[in-house]
Amino acid sequence: MARVLAVVTQKGGVGKTTTATNLAAAIAGQYALRTLVLDLDPQCDATALLLGHGAHAAATIRDVLWEPRPAGEVMVASPFHPDLLVVPGSGELAHDEKHVGPAQWDEIAQDARLTLIGGVPNTVDLVVIDTPPSLGLWLHCALSAADGYVLLGEPGILSARGMGAFLDTAERVTQHINPDLRRLGVVVNNVRPTAEDEGFVSMYTQQFGNEILAVVPQRTAIKEAARLATPIEFFAGAPPDARRSYRDIAARVLTQLGVPRRARPAVAGPRARGTAAPAAPSVVRHNVTPDATPQRRGSRGSKGAAVPRGASGSATSRGAGAAGAPAKPAPASLSGAPRRG
Ligand SMILES: Nc1ncnc2c1ncn2[C@@H]1O[C@H](COP(=O)(O)OP(=O)(O)OP(=O)(O)O)[C@@H](O)[C@H]1O
Ligand SMILES: [Mg+2]
Repeated sequence: MARVLAVVTQKGGVGKTTTATNLAAAIAGQYALRTLVLDLDPQCDATALLLGHGAHAAATIRDVLWEPRPAGEVMVASPFHPDLLVVPGSGELAHDEKHVGPAQWDEIAQDARLTLIGGVPNTVDLVVIDTPPSLGLWLHCALSAADGYVLLGEPGILSARGMGAFLDTAERVTQHINPDLRRLGVVVNNVRPTAEDEGFVSMYTQQFGNEILAVVPQRTAIKEAARLATPIEFFAGAPPDARRSYRDIAARVLTQLGVPRRARPAVAGPRARGTAAPAAPSVVRHNVTPDATPQRRGSRGSKGAAVPRGASGSATSRGAGAAGAPAKPAPASLSGAPRRG
């Protein structure tokens, strides 16, 4: 079975999707490992970055969750590399979460590994799950399904607080749902060359030590690659250090997960959007009824009933040198984070 990692943090906009998609692209492109990005965020940003802004999928993660259809039937190849695959996201997951009662919420979270990963073909080496900026059902499903997680942070007090909130959730998930869940490491993203940001890097380094996988600088090329919906690995305009950041993270997480690395075959090079004609992605127009009530048709347990509509209850680089020298001392705890101006 494929190894599974989730890219997480509570706060929005820290770089989860950027990291998840670029990490997956680095693993597929650099190590020739078949890598599947599973988009569990109703914003569907990972889907947009890998399949193109405005792409609509014939089937989505919602089919995997509610039909259930095996992920292997729903996944599509990205245009960049045959080993980079996507289970497209669905905006309707936001609606679905609101209509799941407490008992079913627990069941869905408990069953998530089987539901999400059980139908991933054996040919897939690694699954990378992009998660929403919340501590809700879909994050719990990701953590339930994962072998480990990569925690995102950036310089800033709110990000530091979001990491702390996430860690509390991860502890509860480890206790109640997935005792095998491991922290694979921490990525500090969006770091500017300022004393203030260095202070935060120092704080994270004191907190997480050699668990810091990479300190990724704030780079225009990373934003530009996202605008062009092209992973850095396949973006002709990417500076080598940006590409190296994600390759470094890839190497570290593969080691952590015990996935043997393969040498990259010396065949056709990467295709970057705008620089060469990409292979046609096998995506067609979305055919999921926008307001359809989610139904769990599978029998993964005695409680696999339809979700009651309107039910009450709960909601449905500095690269590897990460531990780079700080410019000034900083507190060691997340709650004592220095303030970003
Ligand atoms: N290292 C970086 N340098 C420059 N821009 C970056 C960097 N990392 C991320 N960004 C940009 O920051 C924005 C937010 O990134 P991203 O969407 O990956 O965050 P997120 O945590 O997934 O957000 P959300 O919580 O909404 O899902 C995007 O415009 C992205 O291109
Ligand atoms: Mg995101």
